[in-house]
Amino acid sequence: MSQNREQWGSKLGFILAASGSAVGIGNIWKYPSMAGQNGGGAFTLVYLACIFVVGLSIVIAEFVIGRKTQLSPVGAFEKLAPGTNWKWVGYLGVSSAFVILSFYGVVGGWILKYIIDSFSGGFDALAGNPEVAGTMFNGFITSAWNPVIYQVLFMMLCIGVIINGVKGGIEKWSRIMMPMIIVLLGVLAIRGMTLPGGIEGLSFLFNPRFEDLTASAIVLALGHSFFTVSLGMGTMITYGSYIDKKQNLLNSALWVIFLDTAIAMLAGVAIFTTVFALGANPAEGPGLIFIVLPTVFAQMAGGAIWSTMFFILLFMAALTSAISILEVVTAYFIDQKGWSRKKATIQFGAVITVVGAFCSFSLGGGINITEFLGMPFMDFMDYLSSKYMLPIGGMLTAIFVLKKWGISNYLAELKNGMGEKNFPPQLVKAILTIAAAIVAFILFNEVYAEIFGKALIG
Ligand code: TRP
Repeated sequence: MSQNREQWGSKLGFILAASGSAVGIGNIWKYPSMAGQNGGGAFTLVYLACIFVVGLSIVIAEFVIGRKTQLSPVGAFEKLAPGTNWKWVGYLGVSSAFVILSFYGVVGGWILKYIIDSFSGGFDALAGNPEVAGTMFNGFITSAWNPVIYQVLFMMLCIGVIINGVKGGIEKWSRIMMPMIIVLLGVLAIRGMTLPGGIEGLSFLFNPRFEDLTASAIVLALGHSFFTVSLGMGTMITYGSYIDKKQNLLNSALWVIFLDTAIAMLAGVAIFTTVFALGANPAEGPGLIFIVLPTVFAQMAGGAIWSTMFFILLFMAALTSAISILEVVTAYFIDQKGWSRKKATIQFGAVITVVGAFCSFSLGGGINITEFLGMPFMDFMDYLSSKYMLPIGGMLTAIFVLKKWGISNYLAELKNGMGEKNFPPQLVKAILTIAAAIVAFILFNEVYAEIFGKALIG
């Protein structure tokens, strides 16, 4: 099976695809809104630390497992630990993909709608008026069919890319969209910094005020470091399975982490300089992108152009991430069940679209199948994946390398493509142990909070 496995066309293509997966709604929407609500610079500092300690070590572990086995997660764990329960880590990953893509597709649909609205001048009436913008946004997402139409459209684009495979689909589109994201963000950041008063946004984002560094911000930053680098569900195992043995995985992982972080920071700069220049509220939270920004852009000269640019780049970021989630499901059915790519992509793309429609309906369209949990189905899917499934998956991946596969086997694969470099096994062991321990603690804290109503920290 692995002889004719698809491969990336080049190292650059792979780096753009993997960073395309990493750079998504998490960077451009979640990070700035979390930083805004948690004291700006202080949050940024913790976020950076988490990404470089926990994020980097687990990205490398996923790449190594993928390249060694040339298989997607279920097959990969089964191959390295045959006949054991480790393959369930792979199944957990495939399940997480279902859960994440179902709500991610809904947000992808909102973005498409906002591209059309901003381009057609629909934001003009919102200038400086967050109440009206809030009513418009909430009216849209809580209506029954309108958001679902856009969600279906977004999912169809996703399926359209994945059907064309690794090189002809994922790599091709990432090569087009990643550079465009960087250019558009760069332009928006420069525009923001040159607005009168925009520079204040920079000091908000980067100046750490340690009195703002709450325990809950630390926990939040840790959880987000998984989501933003696409860790814990085998996305990077799957992408790693299409790499050849000549590639330097440490170098590739550093590029992915660097691009992911740089783009999150750039998004923060573009957004906060603009928000500060126009005197809007930086601590709006999730409403920052869909409510505050439209009111801010509408006040600027050429606002429709700036906001259309912003939502187009957000759309591209969302699409290159969404395809990586769908690829995990598709690759499972190709590798383990022998299905054709076309059949796997269409069937499971459709199933995820239907589950996603229920996410959308749960916001107000009338059908909420998780009413008994006290939250809409959409929020439940987000909560379940970000707080539990991804951290558990990432932690088990680190434990797998440490306890089952073994550091020496791991390092032997990592060294392919790296020349004569030697890694001190003890150091690698220590880093992976720290990463696993940190995640274990966050999980414990979360479960403790659920049971006792109050977290140990946060
Ligand atoms: N990293 C993406 C973002 O920041 C989302 C994403 C893509 C993801 N693939 C994933 C998250 C796998 C977790 C797991 O928006």
